[in-house]
Amino acid sequence: MSMSRRLKSALSESSFRVEKALNELSLFSGENRQAQYCLYSLNAGGKRLRPFFVLQSCAALGGTPEDAIPAACSVEMIHTYSLIHDDLPGMDDDDTRRGKPTLHKVCGVENAVFAGDRLLIESFATLAGTSLPEDQLKSMLLKLASASGSSFLVGGQFMDMYHPASADRKWTERMIRGKTSAMIRVSMELGSMAAGVSSSELERISAIGNDTGWLFQLTDDILDVTGTTEEMGKAVAKDAVKGKWNPVSELGVNGAVRLAHENAAAISRRLDSLTGDWSMIKELVEYLPERRN
Ligand code: IPE
Ligand code: IPE
Ligand code: MG
Ligand code: MG
Ligand code: MG
Repeated sequence: MSMSRRLKSALSESSFRVEKALNELSLFSGENRQAQYCLYSLNAGGKRLRPFFVLQSCAALGGTPEDAIPAACSVEMIHTYSLIHDDLPGMDDDDTRRGKPTLHKVCGVENAVFAGDRLLIESFATLAGTSLPEDQLKSMLLKLASASGSSFLVGGQFMDMYHPASADRKWTERMIRGKTSAMIRVSMELGSMAAGVSSSELERISAIGNDTGWLFQLTDDILDVTGTTEEMGKAVAKDAVKGKWNPVSELGVNGAVRLAHENAAAISRRLDSLTGDWSMIKELVEYLPERRN
């Protein structure tokens, strides 16, 4: 299954909007060297899937794009910071990201750490600038803080760093829910919240977002085995060498691919049962098991 024309153009339209908004943020203007490092990584490309989830969730519920753009920028900033730090020599030690040299290869480890720190902090400032009622915005900020904090993104990355020899399925589940699912889940949550979602519907959306994030990491782990550096824009065939315990090492590639298709079909059915028009996110979810980058 190749990507439909509709999905392709929606993805490129959303990337365009978000990239424009990111580059217009005043915090990255001027000759500041650190700002340039942040922009190097932000502008290195990337699929911009998290901002897509934000904007499309907002649109699904009839919200206006203006209300979701700051949230879309904020999740992409946190995601980019997490990639900069993930690639550092003390972590996954990677030289290539988004088809370019990793930031620490360009400006050194210290500056890469600072650029990551800065993107993380500025992300919250950006979200806080949304023109929405204060109580609505406060819930959004708290959601983002939780998803990117010690129980999720940071916690999951920490678990991934220190794999215990006894890592089992339950452990792996929690690690993936932290390092990857949470940012995709919160992207759908923030978009929905910007559109004024009800709290009961938000719970269902969160659960779907969580499973979509899990599926996304499953396909990333599959592509680490079946993908090429050219396609992925980053080194592949690293997880097994590093002894990373993930669903692919447990199920084998074929089993993992089968699971990805099953999960995508199940998520797609759940999206049908939501209020609003979730067809664009549905198309993306169904495409995930086929993705090559
Ligand atoms: C890579 O995410 C990190 C994972 C969570 C697997 P993406 O594959 O979305 O990376 P970019 O943003 O397109 O570079
Ligand atoms: C997800 O895991 C990383 C982050 C949450 C930043 P990986 O370490 O597998 O991501 P890649 O393969 O380097 O993009
Ligand atoms: Mg990693
Ligand atoms: Mg990595
Ligand atoms: Mg990976």
